[in-house]
Amino acid sequence: MNKITLKLGLWFFFVMMMIEVCLFFVLHTGLVESRVEEELSALLARGNSHREVLEDLYNTETLHHIALMELKADTEVIITDGKQNIIISSSKVDNGEKKIVSKKLENVPRDGKILERRWKNEKYISTVSPYSVNGHQNGYVYMFKSTDQVQRLISKLNQHFLLAAAVTIILLIVTILFLSRALTTPLIQMKRATEKLSKGNFSVQLPDRGEDELGELSRSITILAQDLKHLKEQRNDFLSSISHELRTPLTYIKGYADVARRRNIADKDRERYLDIIYEESEKLSNMMKDLFDLAKMDQNTFVIHQEKVQICFYLRGICEKMMPAFKEKDINLEINCNENMYVLIDPMRFEQVFLNLFDNAIKYSDPHTKTSVLVKREKENVLIEVKDEGRGIPGEDIPFIFERLYRVDKSRSRDFGGTGLGLSIAKELVEAHQGRIEVKSGLGKGSTFLILIEEMTE
Ligand SMILES: Nc1ncnc2c1ncn2[C@@H]1O[C@H](COP(=O)(O)OP(=O)(O)OP(=O)(O)O)[C@@H](O)[C@H]1O
Ligand SMILES: [Mg+2]
Repeated sequence: MNKITLKLGLWFFFVMMMIEVCLFFVLHTGLVESRVEEELSALLARGNSHREVLEDLYNTETLHHIALMELKADTEVIITDGKQNIIISSSKVDNGEKKIVSKKLENVPRDGKILERRWKNEKYISTVSPYSVNGHQNGYVYMFKSTDQVQRLISKLNQHFLLAAAVTIILLIVTILFLSRALTTPLIQMKRATEKLSKGNFSVQLPDRGEDELGELSRSITILAQDLKHLKEQRNDFLSSISHELRTPLTYIKGYADVARRRNIADKDRERYLDIIYEESEKLSNMMKDLFDLAKMDQNTFVIHQEKVQICFYLRGICEKMMPAFKEKDINLEINCNENMYVLIDPMRFEQVFLNLFDNAIKYSDPHTKTSVLVKREKENVLIEVKDEGRGIPGEDIPFIFERLYRVDKSRSRDFGGTGLGLSIAKELVEAHQGRIEVKSGLGKGSTFLILIEEMTE
């Protein structure tokens, strides 16, 4: 048995026992009292009815008749005269009865009274009823009942009580065992599950326990395990893609450096090789910078300095900056922004978001197409759309393009040599501004990136 079951069980047992003992005590005394009361009033009623008979017809025959009746019953009668001298008794008068009959009587009511009710210590319980015949003959009818009988009756009652107590204790123990098992088994299972988790084993399966608090806890642990598993897988994926990403430019650098240092090649070729080496190194260093930024965002050590910015003015500035790059590929960049709206952003960081989106629009669109920026108000938010007429993103890739190092084109060619970090950085940055970024696209349909950010009202 484990500790918590023992603790709970003992507590429960103790409390229930206390309640039970109190209940039994109250019930027992109540029952005994009322039983004795019943006996006494039956005795009194019997005495009173003898008295009626006596008063109806007072003679020796009647007296004998009453004594005879009591001889057959389990009660006894003594009839005395007015001075408490015994006239007749149903059986031999013993000391206990004598003691009661010799008690001085005063003002006994006509309906009689109880003379002895101490069933525990005395030999008899007893009542007395006065009689009076035509005023000249009067006396008392004493009734007795041996306390042996009452005691026997009560000991029978005690036996019943003991039996009931034994049954309830057994039931109590069974209930406690059942309850504590029902309560502690899931707790123990969860404890084992978390131990497994801390050892790095994330394949935790907890049974469904319904809607109560234990069920909720168990579900939270399962979710935690899944999240941890996902995180671990993500980290492994990330590390393996990173090493791939690093290997490609490094292979180029190594290969071209190897060729470039040969003596017998033309200067023009050497220059071309060195250019490639330079380009690839630059790509590497950019990638390192991006990764470093992402790592900082993960650790929340990334500070953003927010300012109030007029969004149209701000976006026009960025478009202006990007214009030459668009021109170079013969793509038309348009901006459509008329409203006077303000947002609270870090202008430097937020610029990175648009640079990444524009960079993609240029990279993944053909010449003579159009890229447009549209800004409008949507409820309390500002909605910025960046729409291109490029090759689009296949539906099955859309859920993943904001993931680190994810690219639709898996071949790591030099022409489309993106690293797959641009959009994940954009997403982190937008979310750092409490905004949202989404994409609408399809293969061959162009892509639209939507950014929602809260408008500053005052
Ligand atoms: N406007 C777009 N049109 C078509 N495909 C896109 C567009 N923007 C992104 N993608 C696809 O999503 C992938 C991820 O984009 P992301 O900007 O994160 O990486 P990248 O452009 O490949 O590399 P990086 O931006 O780090 O240089 C891209 O490889 C590309 O396949
Ligand atoms: Mg990109």
